[in-house]
Amino acid sequence: MKCLLWLQAFAKLAIAVTSSQIPLREDESVSAFSVFQSDVSPDHSIRIKRQNATLCDTPVDQYTGWLDVGRKHLFFWYFKSETATKNARSEPLALWLTGGPGGSSMLGMLQELGPCLINEHGNGTVYNPYGWNKETALIFVDQPAGVGFSYLDEGEPLPGDSFTAAADMHLFLQLFVSQVFPEHAKGPLVITGESYAGHYLPALGAQIVSQNVLYPKRAQVPLKSLAIGNGYVSPLDTSFGYWETLCTTNPGVEKPIFNETRCEIMAANLPRCLEVAKVCYDHPDPAICQAAETVCLTGVINFYDGESGKGGRNRFDITAPCDIDDFCYANTGLIQDYLNLESSFSALSIPKQIKNFTVGSNVIARAFELTNDLGISLIPQVQYLLASQIDILIYQGNLDLACNTAGAKRWTASMPWKGQAAFTSLDLKPWKSEKDGKEVVAGKFKEVNVKMVDGDEKKTRFALVTIDGSGHMVPQDQPEIALDMLIRWMNGKSFD
Ligand SMILES: *[C@@H]1O[C@H](CO)[C@@H](O)[C@H](O)[C@H]1NC(C)=O
Ligand SMILES: *[C@@H]1O[C@H](CO)[C@@H](O)[C@H](O)[C@H]1NC(C)=O
Ligand SMILES: *[C@@H]1O[C@H](CO)[C@@H](O)[C@H](O)[C@H]1NC(C)=O
Ligand SMILES: *[C@@H]1O[C@H](CO)[C@@H](O)[C@H](O)[C@H]1NC(C)=O
Repeated sequence: MKCLLWLQAFAKLAIAVTSSQIPLREDESVSAFSVFQSDVSPDHSIRIKRQNATLCDTPVDQYTGWLDVGRKHLFFWYFKSETATKNARSEPLALWLTGGPGGSSMLGMLQELGPCLINEHGNGTVYNPYGWNKETALIFVDQPAGVGFSYLDEGEPLPGDSFTAAADMHLFLQLFVSQVFPEHAKGPLVITGESYAGHYLPALGAQIVSQNVLYPKRAQVPLKSLAIGNGYVSPLDTSFGYWETLCTTNPGVEKPIFNETRCEIMAANLPRCLEVAKVCYDHPDPAICQAAETVCLTGVINFYDGESGKGGRNRFDITAPCDIDDFCYANTGLIQDYLNLESSFSALSIPKQIKNFTVGSNVIARAFELTNDLGISLIPQVQYLLASQIDILIYQGNLDLACNTAGAKRWTASMPWKGQAAFTSLDLKPWKSEKDGKEVVAGKFKEVNVKMVDGDEKKTRFALVTIDGSGHMVPQDQPEIALDMLIRWMNGKSFD
């Protein structure tokens, strides 16, 4: 699967899932936490404690803790906004989810868009002037349970698909915005993330909207929009985009990455890959989807991905080197070192059951492989969200291969919905932003605003925004532009 954060997990299909369940005993330091018991279920509560700036260097208030939902425990790190009015009745909130499956959101936080970033030694953090909490509160959640600092009680089955993950995340958000920080009860909430979050976010959005409708008397989660960064929404289209990304100069390279020989072979194999991937969409049976994956992997994907890894090619930026296996960026290893320090464990009050922090959970990645989540398309959920008047931003670093821009262009154009004709009638136009005090062309964009409900004047916004000179991790590669993009999106300002 092209968007998986690490390849090894993918290469070994159908490895038996070994036990990763972590037994929970009472955490001795639990007294440091405040506990918010859900009004809805005796099984759900949030334990939360304040952090000072020692672990994450930022002037804003910050809190960490867990949602305990039955026997699953989801870790979060929450930051206040740098500028939103204190004690406002309604404060915006942004949720960030890193992909994987199995990737910890600490990667997004400490390497890309958090209020603080890992330092070069991996023994502390530095303030990030382009943190995404400039005008909104910001929360990072390790999910599903089993990822990062999130854990499961012994005997609890591993979460293995985006819909199970979404159900738990919905419970988390419901309790968080209604009882823990009620200043977020009215939102607006934007859910954002990257890579495999192209699966997580549409599934979560659909869960939020349907639960809000089904249970109008329960706490509503005030979802306003999704912002999906280099997302794995439609695997078929990602495979399709490999050719354009590697065999043309469209990503913004001087000459194509691959030579003609390779491009000829890939082009010849592509129709068959698309054909079988489509069969998987129509009949999402694990045997069919795994066969489809194999066809695309050997015929298209592996010419590049097979040469990635430490010292080899970088799937997240076709122009960059790859320093370490799986994640490519050395920073990712430093994050792991930092969060594994005894001082970090102690400040976060990590339960004794968690022995080690890993930034990517192979066990969760394998669980997802077994349930067939990887090969399916989340376009139906995107359609449902648009029909439910949820705004959707698709943003793309153009140098990424793993979840490439060519694939995003293709699925956003081919998706049937009321705005399709208007969207496909538009050409991508340059959008401008500021970098180092100068106006620059940041990339290209197109967007439509469409009335989705009869008799309702409200327009729903759908936008595709590309960022030049950026790979998979846009806030890492173009921090100033990425922040500008988020703020414009959240404020409903056009990219024109
Ligand atoms: C981090 O490591 C560097 C280089 O070894 C050292 O100079 C610095 O004092 C360390 N900082 C902390 C907070 O330990
Ligand atoms: C094309 O690229 C591949 C992989 O880098 C290489 O093995 C092959 O020799 C190249 N072919 C030509 C004709 O340059
Ligand atoms: C921050 O909190 C840690 C415990 O988590 C404590 O050891 C440290 O003294 C605190 N630092 C400040 C400046 O309050
Ligand atoms: C923690 O996990 C990482 C990554 O799997 C590994 O490199 C490291 O050695 C482990 N540390 C301990 C103390 O087990």
